Amino acid sequence: MRNLERRTNLSPFPKGGTRGILLRVCAINLVANREIPFAPPLKKGEGCNSNTLFVWGANDMTDLICESEATRTPASPLRVGVLVSGNGSNLQALLDYSERRSCRFKVVSVISNCPGVFALERAQRSNVPTQVIEHQKFTTREEFEQNLIQALIGHSVDVVVLAGFMRMLTPIFLRAFPNRIVNVHPALSPSFPGAHAVKDALKYGVRITGCTVHLVDEGMDTGRILAQAAVPVFEGDDEMTLKGRIQTREHLLLPQVIEGIARGLISEKGFSV
Ligand code: GRF
Repeated sequence: MRNLERRTNLSPFPKGGTRGILLRVCAINLVANREIPFAPPLKKGEGCNSNTLFVWGANDMTDLICESEATRTPASPLRVGVLVSGNGSNLQALLDYSERRSCRFKVVSVISNCPGVFALERAQRSNVPTQVIEHQKFTTREEFEQNLIQALIGHSVDVVVLAGFMRMLTPIFLRAFPNRIVNVHPALSPSFPGAHAVKDALKYGVRITGCTVHLVDEGMDTGRILAQAAVPVFEGDDEMTLKGRIQTREHLLLPQVIEGIARGLISEKGFSV
């Protein structure tokens, strides 16, 4: 328990405000699928590129912390634990990104609540330790989550990423990693929360949808938005084609956000559109 308390005090995010001397404000931007790690500072409302439908905006420049305050380096990366339940294409995006020499995060643990899923194989191929913790084997959610928490703490995880993890988390888990759990959702939050976001967006008839990377709170796909990317809906789209288009964006956005956290570019205040 003492170990848990000690770790929960360690936030990967820079403290709010302009701590220290702001030498250089950095931002991450995506233009035409290219990564520009240190784009010029964005002004409020900038960063929406209609060609790529990538939406990016900072509502407060003090949310962007200069690189000199970044706490992580490639030699001492942000330690990321990934929870999965299925295919793991977002996990793969994180694994691929983390192979860059300049990357400041490392996936150190992958845990699935379902045995035999492809995400586990992806992790094993990258030599990342995996574990299966089946929720069905526990009588209470608390017991299940305590096991998850202990496993993640065992790998000294700084940030937990939910990459297609199909379980709601209780305050027990949230308290163990305060402001350090990130989820990717296949819709532009707060629209279409839940497990059928793509289907619901199609059914509603929206012309633009997208994906959201956000901090996790007790709600269903709620929590502070860190970044969003917009995706067009075309005539004749079905759930599969639209999901594919959204996931292409997720695979770009999620690693960028985790890298942004590791570099101290994204505070727990996050970004908003
Ligand atoms: C993603 O589309 C994500 O938005 C949602 O679950 C899906 C997981 O896909 N939360 P994958 O397992 O990463 O391929």
